[in-house]
Amino acid sequence: MLLHDRGHSGRVLHTPAGDAPADAVFAGLIDRLEKNGTLGREEFLYLLRNCRGANLRLLFDRAATVRRKVYGHTIFLRGLIEFTNHCRNNCLYCGIRAGNTRAERYRLSADEILACCRQGYELGFRTFVLQGGEDPGFADEALAAVVRAVKAAYPDTAVTLSVGERSREVYQFFRQAGADRYLLRHETATAAHYRQLHPAGMDWENRMRCLQDLRELGFQTGCGFMVGSPFQRDEELAEELLFLSRFRPEMAGIGPFIPHYQTPFGSYPAGSAEVTLALLAMIRIMLKTVLLPATTALGTLLPDGRERGILAGANVIMPNLSPESVREKYLLYNNKLHTGCEAAEAVEQLKQSLRQIGCEAVIDRGDCRKDFCDV
Ligand code: 5AD
Repeated sequence: MLLHDRGHSGRVLHTPAGDAPADAVFAGLIDRLEKNGTLGREEFLYLLRNCRGANLRLLFDRAATVRRKVYGHTIFLRGLIEFTNHCRNNCLYCGIRAGNTRAERYRLSADEILACCRQGYELGFRTFVLQGGEDPGFADEALAAVVRAVKAAYPDTAVTLSVGERSREVYQFFRQAGADRYLLRHETATAAHYRQLHPAGMDWENRMRCLQDLRELGFQTGCGFMVGSPFQRDEELAEELLFLSRFRPEMAGIGPFIPHYQTPFGSYPAGSAEVTLALLAMIRIMLKTVLLPATTALGTLLPDGRERGILAGANVIMPNLSPESVREKYLLYNNKLHTGCEAAEAVEQLKQSLRQIGCEAVIDRGDCRKDFCDV
């Protein structure tokens, strides 16, 4: 596909400087993507296949301009609490899949989760993301009680849940408990590709049903996919862009696939950080108000991945607030970036590196700016 390396080479590729203009077709498509918030399948394919040199510079510049128009210099921080790595599912790519008997399992107690929030609140976080595997040992009632407790203790915060596929009734129960947002990556926009990434028994239609329910229940809803997952071609990426342009989520989680050696996909190559950056930019131009994190996986592949994600149009960073003792156990993939925000110092460092690229991390819930006209 585009750019030079599909697999991860460890190189940091910089777009070559130069004065050559972007090609006219590419530039015209970017204009239309910004104006209409969508393109046709073939047009997305053209963008995907021509992301290089001056085209790529145009793409990143436009994405950063759109981000500034909607959100100014503001970057939102989320405190990520990975509260359980037990999971009943067996996704072929994921290090905490049920079949990985070598994963060391843990589950935080309600008190431990609340302690993470307390620390996060003091550090200035106003959104907490409670993320975990689909853990039958953590009852829905217990999770709802945690949400209620967080909202009672810190009424000016938003709570985001990311705990996988549930029934509509359970989602409604979480919503009534006070959860504001829900992240559920769809993983891929086609049922056929979904079947290649998941075992029999998991189906794409249910994933879609979940996303629809979440939206109807009034959650700010996030979907997303991995870049460079096994069997993904440019055609699948074009489908991802089409799907996002239709669903128009409030949040989108996009990160490179990174193999975990204790999974069936352990020997597949990692996705490309460069392709991830190009997709972030296209998504920002297409869904102007979207809350778009520069993900941990991107930060794992590139030393300056989070900053480059922001420069490509991302506007959210999700530092880890999980206790240090469990952090290396939530291993979805190998070499996962461990740096968290255990200390005020680490948050300060992050803020400083954002300032260096002209951005400002703010103390704010960071809701989606629905008041801004999207298309
Ligand atoms: N590489 C990158 N991302 C992964 N995820 C799971 N396993 C991997 C991996 N090996 C992502 C999935 C999931 C999210 C929590 O993490 O997209 O939805």
